Amino acid sequence: MAVLGAASVVTLVATPRARETFLPRHFWRRRRISSNTVRTPLDDYRHIAAGKVRDLYAVDDEHLLLVASDRISAYDHVLPTPIPDKGRVLTAMSVFFFDLLGGNNHLAGPPDDERIPEDLVGRALVVRRLEMLPVECVARGYLTGSGLVDYQASGAVCGVPLPAGLTEASRLPEPIFTPATKAPFGGHDENVDFAAVVAQLGAPLAEQLRTATLDVYARAAAHVAERGLVLADTKLEFGRGSDGSFVLADEVLTPDSSRFWPLEGFEPGRVQPSFDKQYVRDWLTGPASGWDRRGDAPPPPLPAEVVAATRARYVEAYERISGLSFDDWLRP
Ligand SMILES: Nc1ncnc2c1ncn2[C@@H]1O[C@H](COP(=O)(O)OP(=O)(O)OP(=O)(O)O)[C@@H](O)[C@H]1O
Ligand SMILES: [Mg+2]
Repeated sequence: MAVLGAASVVTLVATPRARETFLPRHFWRRRRISSNTVRTPLDDYRHIAAGKVRDLYAVDDEHLLLVASDRISAYDHVLPTPIPDKGRVLTAMSVFFFDLLGGNNHLAGPPDDERIPEDLVGRALVVRRLEMLPVECVARGYLTGSGLVDYQASGAVCGVPLPAGLTEASRLPEPIFTPATKAPFGGHDENVDFAAVVAQLGAPLAEQLRTATLDVYARAAAHVAERGLVLADTKLEFGRGSDGSFVLADEVLTPDSSRFWPLEGFEPGRVQPSFDKQYVRDWLTGPASGWDRRGDAPPPPLPAEVVAATRARYVEAYERISGLSFDDWLRP
């Protein structure tokens, strides 16, 4: 795509605010990607944060560009090998579920918003800049992962008592809210009980988080059940807008934030195959990688077949859950 010279005549379709803010200074750098779309280059935006998977850039005072990379993390390490298209799959799935759920979410423009730099189309979204609430809001309908560990130690998860005799992948009597503290960068999130959330945020906001989280879980679980899947658990993040509004943010219902299990062959008592990093985890902890999960060394690069199988799994999750073809999703 050629960079337009200052003399070129282009049709600007940016919002009035963006036009006002960015047009005069950067007009010459704008690029044309179709007959009537002009996009802002990424280096016009200030990079404000990098998570394990996402990068955040300031679009203006009220908006962020949330960019999902192809980075993959496992066992609290970001792996040296990216998974091609993973960021686009995560973005496509979040958009699908924001749309399905409706309600107040952080999307501040369509997925092909012209404020998205051309190279990032499909993996980036323009979102409202929020004050994030410092709680990872987890809903669980089934027992696995850190929930199972807590249960085995105490008979409860995050202070919610559960009946005796449950095992790996047991269905819970009803879905439960199991919050975790949001660890600072590089840290490990820690499960806490509801009282800790009340102490931190006050009872009304804590109740609002619990109700909203369980509501999203119930609706998403009902959707994926129609598609032959179990939603074992999901993690959500909420934020507050400058007007005080309560907003669902971050990614929603992606294989990185949620455990989806095939209904076919589902059987409590054993670890279920899951639409996420199973190949990566199996390889890393198997003999072929030569990596010690408990040692100090970073994980080694992934072999091509693990990368390909993991990419296919992410794409399959999107297609199965949304009923849409990933080939039709936005790309640069
Ligand atoms: N609308 C928003 N406004 C402000 N911050 C947001 C918004 N939506 C998401 N975020 C923040 O953006 C970051 C997303 O980055 P990422 O998911 O890579 O990081 P992480 O959550 O630290 O890592 P991980 O998800 O692997 O635990 C999170 O810190 C999240 O709280
Ligand atoms: Mg995250």
